[in-house]
Amino acid sequence: MLEVSQLNVGYGQSRVIQDLSFKVEAEEILVIMGRNGMGKTTLLKSLLGILPSKSGSIKLGDQEISRLESFERVRRGIAFVPQGRMIFPALTVTENILTGARSTLEKSVWDEIYALFPILYDMRARKGGNLSGGQQQQLAIARALVTNPKVLVLDEPTEGIQPSIIKDIARALKEIRNMRKIAIVVSEQVVSFMMEVCDRALVIERGRFVHEASRVGLDAGRIKALLSV
Ligand SMILES: Nc1ncnc2c1ncn2[C@@H]1O[C@H](COP(=O)(O)OP(=O)(O)OP(=O)(O)O)[C@@H](O)[C@H]1O
Ligand SMILES: [Mg+2]
Repeated sequence: MLEVSQLNVGYGQSRVIQDLSFKVEAEEILVIMGRNGMGKTTLLKSLLGILPSKSGSIKLGDQEISRLESFERVRRGIAFVPQGRMIFPALTVTENILTGARSTLEKSVWDEIYALFPILYDMRARKGGNLSGGQQQQLAIARALVTNPKVLVLDEPTEGIQPSIIKDIARALKEIRNMRKIAIVVSEQVVSFMMEVCDRALVIERGRFVHEASRVGLDAGRIKALLSV
């Protein structure tokens, strides 16, 4: 579904992402684990075209998207939930969700969103800025979903969120994959969340992958050790 080859991304002269290659299968949840500053956000932003890549290829299905503008990538089927959520604080929950849509949303779409995140129904008329961090995260995921992605990309969705809501988000991601049959790429530092959602995990260190494991062969201790170096 998504195939990245020999990707290089950096800021000015510095290279942060170094010759990275990886694939995500349709209906797969790939978790990219890495400590602070290891390049997770840089990598994910470059997939979306928020940061330009210096070289390399990004294919969505059989289409090369690495030279497209962000909005064109979103139209082709990739959606992003940024680190820190970036919802619009002065808009209501409903209005925030609509900012992701190209036109009005059918009732079935609203029903699906509220089934995934019942709290958003209760809060639908509230301003985004008055939601808790966990509620804002659910809102950011809902906003990304209404673009109808084939690949959903999330950057540290559990950052600053309490354990019970982390569980809700894990459950929602699996439900989204099962219902929509889409691929999900998620960066993380929380090992328990990774264990809950992933089909496969990669560990990134200074812009390169240093470890890969599929769900069956996953050694949480090994990954914890890599994250605590
Ligand atoms: N705008 C920028 N200009 C220059 N360097 C940057 C910029 N943004 C990030 N970097 C550097 O790139 C490297 C990777 O940062 P990045 O934000 O991708 O890490 P991360 O894995 O997302 O970290 P975190 O877990 O803290 O979000 C770091 O060394 C960081 O200092
Ligand atoms: Mg980051």
